[in-house]
Amino acid sequence: MTAKDENPRDLFSALDTLATSCDSADALMAAIVALLQEKLTHYNWVGFYMLEKDGGSDVLVLGPFRGAATPHTRIPLNQGICGAAASTGKTIVVDDVNSDPRYLACSLETKSEIVVPVRAHGKVVGELDIDSHRAAAFGSEDRALCEHAAAVLGRFFERTAS
Ligand code: SME
Repeated sequence: MTAKDENPRDLFSALDTLATSCDSADALMAAIVALLQEKLTHYNWVGFYMLEKDGGSDVLVLGPFRGAATPHTRIPLNQGICGAAASTGKTIVVDDVNSDPRYLACSLETKSEIVVPVRAHGKVVGELDIDSHRAAAFGSEDRALCEHAAAVLGRFFERTAS
């Protein structure tokens, strides 16, 4: 982190507050990506992908995001770090995207990435994806913060979706 960054730990309660002030999942996703991207300078691209049915198979569809436009607006589950995180249900941290053969490039500037599944009622419904221009940008505090953001959204879905 740089000196002007907030400590990721201080953003936990801000995320909880967003969940009480947003009246739709889309609004909450937009507020979460804005908060994270604005407060943490090493979070250069922040976005949600949500699972949707495409014919018989699931596909990750880009939702609210902050950062440069990406060509990857629909990602099958067998592609990318995003597909790997959604299909295994596990957080993936990649310190050097260029040495990971799964990586789907969005920006030549991206050096590292974290992808955290979002669960509702025990099932993966989407994921939070964050790219950094810094190598190995995501440590244990970032992981805890991103997993908290995903949990806040998951609980919102559980409260509001049937
Ligand atoms: N890098 C991702 C694709 C999405 S972009 O980072 C926004 C991947 O490898 O799945």
